[in-house]
Amino acid sequence: MVVEPQALETQTVENYILHFNTQKSLYKTIYARMEFIKVNARFEKHIALIELNRPKELNALNRQLMLEIRDTLRELDEDDEVRVIILTGGPKVFAAGADIKQMADATAIDMLNIDQFSTWDQIKKTRKPIIAAVSGFALGGGCELAMTCDMIVASETARFGQPEIKIGTMPGAGGTQRLTRAVGKVMAMELVLTGKFISAEEALNAGLINRIVPVELLMDETLGLAREIAKQSPVAIKLAKEAVNNAFNSTLDEGLLFERKNFYLTFASKDQKEGMAAFIEKRNPEFTGK
Ligand code: CAA
Repeated sequence: MVVEPQALETQTVENYILHFNTQKSLYKTIYARMEFIKVNARFEKHIALIELNRPKELNALNRQLMLEIRDTLRELDEDDEVRVIILTGGPKVFAAGADIKQMADATAIDMLNIDQFSTWDQIKKTRKPIIAAVSGFALGGGCELAMTCDMIVASETARFGQPEIKIGTMPGAGGTQRLTRAVGKVMAMELVLTGKFISAEEALNAGLINRIVPVELLMDETLGLAREIAKQSPVAIKLAKEAVNNAFNSTLDEGLLFERKNFYLTFASKDQKEGMAAFIEKRNPEFTGK
């Protein structure tokens, strides 16, 4: 559950960077706490923030943490105030993968019955854009979590990899599929079959991430991107996100038809009328999501 803070304080980028730099916690006043994540549904106007919060375990993704992400995303997706969601692990580490200790002794039938990766489907189902802000390790499930988001802004310290092969298993939450679609077969093969890590620069060159910034600017840059998206029509954003994602699941002709219908559907919104009127009247549009 996303519990909205009683006394809502407007969080500023400066404060957040201050937090990153000093490690002083500002969360008491601005975050609704869960056990393994911190959530601020009103981080900025129309922008929500989820931060993974298992620092000692390098944000290893145990089942409870993923349930918290699932429930939070469901709430934020229904929250009309929220237009963009940022998911981060903080300045040191994004996530070192699924929790190895939690699953080490499981049988195949345990894994099948628990079906923990089905929890992850909510990320994919979220209709609002999610931006991953990645610093430090994004490995295994951590890399998969970032790739399930819609965009990835990385700091210079980011390291990506699918090292499951080194612990006698393989990616199970999208690594063989999303990584392959993002970086192509040969690089995906190398990463999945050797477990090696790549730097932020290699990830950028391979098309896995949007951009790289110094760690102290990670939230600033991510917020800049989030603000650009939050200014647009929420209706058009949802339909456009859906159409881009559809490119991965359809033939070109099916995808083009889907896109065309979503384009036509935007004409049912007041936002489309407002956007085009504002263009003609040479003013900034005011989008309401209607
Ligand atoms: N699960 C559980 N605990 C983890 C973890 C994980 N994935 N990754 C790190 N930790 C724990 C460590 O056990 C350690 O705990 P203790 O202090 O209690 O010993 C703590 O986090 C700090 O880790 P290290 O001491 O290992 O830190 P390091 O800086 O020396 O190394 C690392 C960092 C290279 C990321 C290393 O921790 C590592 O290799 N982690 C595992 C990476 C991995 O294999 N991920 C894939 C997991 S399986 C998966 O994700 C399946 C899937 O498809 C979803």
